[in-house]
Amino acid sequence: MKNLHESVQNYYGKELSKSEDLKTNACCTVKNYPSYIKTAMGKIHDEVMSKYYGCGLTIPTAMDAMKVLDLGSGSGRDCYLAAQLVGENGEVVGVDMTDEQLEVSNRHIDYHTEKFGYKSSNTSFLKGYLEELDDLGLKDDYFDIIISNCVINLVKDKQKVLNSTFNKLKNGGEMYFSDVYVNKRIPKELVDDPVLYGECLSGSLYINDFLSMAKKAGFQDPRVVETAPITISNKSIQDKLEGYEFLSITYRLFKIEELEDNCEDFGQAVMYKGGIEGMEKSFILDDHHIFEEGKVEAVCGNTYRMLNDTRLLEYFNFYGDWSKHYGVFEGCGNNIFSSESKSKVSTDEGCC
Ligand SMILES: C[S@@+](CC[C@H](N)C(=O)[O-])C[C@H]1O[C@@H](n2cnc3c(N)ncnc32)[C@H](O)[C@@H]1O
Repeated sequence: MKNLHESVQNYYGKELSKSEDLKTNACCTVKNYPSYIKTAMGKIHDEVMSKYYGCGLTIPTAMDAMKVLDLGSGSGRDCYLAAQLVGENGEVVGVDMTDEQLEVSNRHIDYHTEKFGYKSSNTSFLKGYLEELDDLGLKDDYFDIIISNCVINLVKDKQKVLNSTFNKLKNGGEMYFSDVYVNKRIPKELVDDPVLYGECLSGSLYINDFLSMAKKAGFQDPRVVETAPITISNKSIQDKLEGYEFLSITYRLFKIEELEDNCEDFGQAVMYKGGIEGMEKSFILDDHHIFEEGKVEAVCGNTYRMLNDTRLLEYFNFYGDWSKHYGVFEGCGNNIFSSESKSKVSTDEGCC
């Protein structure tokens, strides 16, 4: 473990000095940042921005006054974005193990406090290992949102990190994070290559292994928010990883004990009332749930809970209860009005 930590610390503390040194497109996977995020980025110190090594946008909406923990905060870009969106009454804590990264994030605390117009800073950075979060004095059941950007792939004991993330979240809190995933398990000789590992490639999780780990940690029904292909710009790395496909995926994992394995139909519906900054006209929960303002939409039990048992409650009206189960919810993950589903329905009808 010591060697792995040292190798990753060396990569992020000494080998790389700016985003452009990465040998993949990881830090450029987000093509269009929403305008309120662009505005917030404009207030972040150039040095912090120049050492951004993430692979997605890990800042959810509706963050006012939230307590946020960033796992592997690096030079602090996402912490300083979150610090603006939670406001002066919110709190942001970044954890990282690499001195050089922490030095940058810490050195700019006063700059950002002043830039955001806060009387005192709402942001702090802790040195520590993600595998040992309990050693840092972070309380259980405390954080509303835990973010992480291109970090879990670098951790050996990923299950341990997901388990303690679940413990540190409040009930109704969520982990909202981007990471690199691969289409098949990667053999040990490639995992042991410090450049492939440091570049967030060979430590990345085979997608089904991640889903099993997330569920084991307590996170049922993980939701994909966004995906983007990771491309490799270095020929020798490409050759070593021939046959592997890498994706950056942003997931949201809710800590809601009652979530079920599958999407079940209880005849419930919701209506987005509007009011979330950046999503005034429609609220995007994940890649297959977009709620237009003022429109009543049928939802499965899990989606109902993700909106009702969390900080999103105040932005929705809710219809129905849990008194009757109608079977599998057909609308989750696919469009029930798609031609495929229509032909299925008509075939079924024809049989009756
Ligand atoms: C790819 S960089 C991403 C940094 C930051 N999230 C960003 O978006 O710029 C990975 C970061 O995770 C940190 N890291 C990796 N493994 C860690 C571990 N086991 N414990 C704490 N920090 C870790 C590294 O020090 C590095 O700063």
